[in-house]
Amino acid sequence: MGTLKTQDAGRIDTLIGRMTLTEKLGQLTMMSASHTVTGPVITGHSVSDIRSGRIGNLLNLIGAAAAREMQRVAVEESRLGIPLLIGLDVIHGHRTLFPPPLAEAALFDAQAWALTAREAAREAAADGITMTFAPMLDVSRDPRWGRTVEGPGESAWVGARLAQAKVRGFQGADLAARDSIAAVAKHFCGYGAVTAGREYASVDVSDRALLEVHLPPFAAAVDAGVAAVMPAFTDLAGIPMTAHSGMLRGRLRRQLGFEGVVVSDYNAVAELIQHGVAADLIEAAALALEAGVDIDMVSGAYLEGLPAALERGLVGLAQIDESVRRVLTLKARLGLFEDPYGRGAAAESAAVVAERRRLARDIAARSIVLLTNGSGALPLPAGIGRLALLGPLADAPAEMRGPWWSAADPDAQVSVLAGIRAALPQAQIRHASGCGIADPDDSGIAGALQLCDGTEAVVLCLGEAATMSGEAASRAHPGLPGRQQELAEAVLRRAGARAIPVIAVLFSGRPLIVPWLAERASALLAAWFPGCEAGHAVADVLTGRTSPSGRTPITWPRAVGQIPLFFGQRSGGRPADLAGPFASRYIDESTGPLFPFGHGLTYGRFTLSHPRVTPQSARASDTVEVRVDVENHGPRRAQETVFLFTRRMKSRVAPPTLELHGVGKIALDAGASGTLTLPLALEELRAPGLDLEPALEPGAIEILVGPSADRASLLTCRLELVD
Ligand code: BGC
Repeated sequence: MGTLKTQDAGRIDTLIGRMTLTEKLGQLTMMSASHTVTGPVITGHSVSDIRSGRIGNLLNLIGAAAAREMQRVAVEESRLGIPLLIGLDVIHGHRTLFPPPLAEAALFDAQAWALTAREAAREAAADGITMTFAPMLDVSRDPRWGRTVEGPGESAWVGARLAQAKVRGFQGADLAARDSIAAVAKHFCGYGAVTAGREYASVDVSDRALLEVHLPPFAAAVDAGVAAVMPAFTDLAGIPMTAHSGMLRGRLRRQLGFEGVVVSDYNAVAELIQHGVAADLIEAAALALEAGVDIDMVSGAYLEGLPAALERGLVGLAQIDESVRRVLTLKARLGLFEDPYGRGAAAESAAVVAERRRLARDIAARSIVLLTNGSGALPLPAGIGRLALLGPLADAPAEMRGPWWSAADPDAQVSVLAGIRAALPQAQIRHASGCGIADPDDSGIAGALQLCDGTEAVVLCLGEAATMSGEAASRAHPGLPGRQQELAEAVLRRAGARAIPVIAVLFSGRPLIVPWLAERASALLAAWFPGCEAGHAVADVLTGRTSPSGRTPITWPRAVGQIPLFFGQRSGGRPADLAGPFASRYIDESTGPLFPFGHGLTYGRFTLSHPRVTPQSARASDTVEVRVDVENHGPRRAQETVFLFTRRMKSRVAPPTLELHGVGKIALDAGASGTLTLPLALEELRAPGLDLEPALEPGAIEILVGPSADRASLLTCRLELVD
């Protein structure tokens, strides 16, 4: 994991030589801190445990002064003076919140992904943080799973690019810099495939799914030099990841070449007992260490269990030393020995913070996906005079944060109401929530309906509360909660009868199953959770200040029964479009999605033509160029996004019907046209089978380009792969 300075290697050897067993186990332990009026406390422990070397790392400590104080105790009052790792879930910003990863994925822009991670790192480092438990790289094809919001969506290709960008952004060019923090790729591996989308449930996926879908983002993170990896809470075919030697020591370390730190998930080592693979903390600790888990997050199993495990011969001292070496190496790479107080030493200037908020507004506006705009209701007419702003998310600033808000102040978030008022100062804005987000009270619906009359448009803000996505937030009914459907239907009827357009804006951490709304609303937007600048970003899109350009990184199903629904499925021998009844379909629902992967409209109107590839025949090691002409027939400048898929016509293993290998963007004025060029490295087409796949087989490859994964929208050309 990068080179260590000679003096650091020497220092680590000397330290390990001097350490008692307790001090070693302290380095392998991370405990949770929190705040009281008297200052920071360590849950279940006391600060003297840092002094005695029993605790060598903390998480959840917020604020530069608290971090400095704990760091001071470790460095100046413990016998060996080893600084602490101070970790926190900085998932989509620290104090300044950007949209969460699923929403950011909708930008399909690696530079933007890296930039927001860089800014989050600077802000967190200014608070004394040294490590973030991010990026979360779990590919999810199941909107029931709440943690879908934290990851890249359904595509492993997107996941791999997001992984690299985020690691680069968090860790910067030099991990020792005061504004860099260690990234933790999580949750290794397959957590996105929990049974029935139920949180923490068992995972049982094939080796092929593992290699094609779940591993590539982690391989990319390791390639990018990620400092640490966190195993998932879940088991993989019966073996809990926290005790999965084959995955951690085998795939991760030996095959992917990862040399960094493995940090357990919260209490996961002790939970090996509940999994049913360990009888007590001693066995749990031994299993986790044996599997290659270096740091025990909060369970205390290493502290309590490893001494006895050593005595019983379940583990050896060499294994403990190996893990201690990795932890100390990371501390050295972070520059903590030389500069333990560097992070958090200086507060950021107001100008830096203001600039970051400008970035948050831009990223949030670009993450919003315009799902429908059938009647051209958007953008709102420039001189709009009367607008009704309804729905429980219209004036809900704290909800705009989404899950994992780190240290963000709930009062520092811009509501849609505030954003629209600022954007349309001349307009009369009538506001009512109509109902709560999830409660059964419908007494406000009648009043909200009255506000529709006499307006020029209704903006209806619907969706989830921030805590309805994220960890422990799986939903069996991922539609609109509470009385929101009733509110929406009543508004659609009332406004419909008066020919007033209804623009529905959805806030959620997942695709919501709302086919009825997509059909009936004049326009529908997925705003996800936009973060601190939510209201301004939504207003930017509604008014046309920003032309929408977000694309959904995950398929939107029409019905829960279709899940999992994703673009890369294999066709089978009787595909859905086969004539006759004996085809892969439902008898009571279409097989198609509500919105396909990549879908998203703009305020332009684009046509694509003339797809071509040069050269038309190539070897597996070549890079070819795919070109397509793009024209904007619409009345406004806008940005089109073009996806590059491939389909192997024949291979020994049935190929997926579409494989994503590129995304390009082109901004065009009204009436303008241009050509988009997308490079395609054929190496990439080889299934990422670390050990499953033969080399790419010669033969025809179909190249498909278009605005989404909807087959009907894709243009094709062919490439011949030669030996
Ligand atoms: C989550 C992790 C997170 C950790 C520390 C766990 O419950 O699964 O993603 O990093 O807590 O907060």
